[in-house]
Amino acid sequence: MKKISYNLIIIAFLCIFGCCKKENNNQTQKGNMENIQVSGYGVTAKGDTVKKYTLINKNGMKVEVINFGGIITSLTAPDKNGKYEDVVLGFTKPEDYFNGNPYYFGALIGRYGNRIANAKFTLEGKTYDIDKNDGPNSLHGGKDGFHTKFWHIESVKDAEFPTLKLTYTSEDGEEGYPGKLTTTVLYTLTDDNALEISYEATTDKATVVNLTQHSYFNLSGNFTKTITDHELQINADQFLPVNETLIPTGEQKAVKGSPFDFTVSKPIGKDINAADDQLKKGKGYDHNWILNGTGLRSIAKVYHPESGRVMEVFTDEPGVQFYSGNFLDGKFETKTGGKNEFRTGFCLETQHFPDSPNQASFPSTELKPGQKYQTKTIYKFSVKK
Ligand code: BGC
Repeated sequence: MKKISYNLIIIAFLCIFGCCKKENNNQTQKGNMENIQVSGYGVTAKGDTVKKYTLINKNGMKVEVINFGGIITSLTAPDKNGKYEDVVLGFTKPEDYFNGNPYYFGALIGRYGNRIANAKFTLEGKTYDIDKNDGPNSLHGGKDGFHTKFWHIESVKDAEFPTLKLTYTSEDGEEGYPGKLTTTVLYTLTDDNALEISYEATTDKATVVNLTQHSYFNLSGNFTKTITDHELQINADQFLPVNETLIPTGEQKAVKGSPFDFTVSKPIGKDINAADDQLKKGKGYDHNWILNGTGLRSIAKVYHPESGRVMEVFTDEPGVQFYSGNFLDGKFETKTGGKNEFRTGFCLETQHFPDSPNQASFPSTELKPGQKYQTKTIYKFSVKK
């Protein structure tokens, strides 16, 4: 009975988009080069059904997204022999995403990606206390941030490439933040193997916003291997040193001559264990780089020599948090067996700077009624032989 009603819901969903085709027990939507499959993913402790949406491009690259947290649960990319393998970290059991997702694997992060000092900020003369979930600070929008929310998902019918539109409305006061915030995120998988992520948000009261995507990558396709052999280049001449609780001190420091210099590509592991106060504080790299240039531009490139996989990141944001997976602690099984050990994944989270609401010298993260928050990031995959 339960199964029948579930199928009916899926069929009704697909018919709305004018196409019903059954394939391997999954429903497939096609039209305007669109290729999106919808299937069941799991059920939360509260009994809510979670669905999985699979974007597929003409090369066979696949990106899987669930409507819980807007989480990317899988993303495949080709190696030098043309073999597509999953390159994003994730859990093997759906409940691990639903019950806290301690590492924020693959999730959409809001309302504020990264940390806000002492879990408070003042806006237009009023002080707001937000959820304190990381020592004295607030991290990634609070305990019940966007990574724990159900997003409404629909496909974008006339898009050139398979595109999902995710929408979530956050009520005034949620996690302590002012204003009712309506957020839309588009995930598009292009035929040149790029995942494009476009964010938009509007508010009915002055607030702060800093959205990001928290996928961890391991381009080897083997999640038991560390990422220290990946070669990274970041187009940034400066980074933001932090205090003991990973809040920027306010200093904008030149990377030149330090372990933080990625202006020329080098293995992530080359300097990661250097005797350096900042590396000690971050337990490795867990810092924001001040990106050179403005507008949508190439900001980072990662190359994994063994597989030949390359990932290039483009964004219009001023910063990127390069996090070398220092808090991965072997508590969960990986999708390729073994455990998610220390530094077996890295994140390149494009964003405004951490703690901007409390640091007047940083680019503003304020959003006022009538304004539109708009930003875009692209993760593009290729190979180098
Ligand atoms: C932060 C890390 C944090 C991690 C949580 C990253 O964005 O920079 O400090 O531990 O998210 O998974």
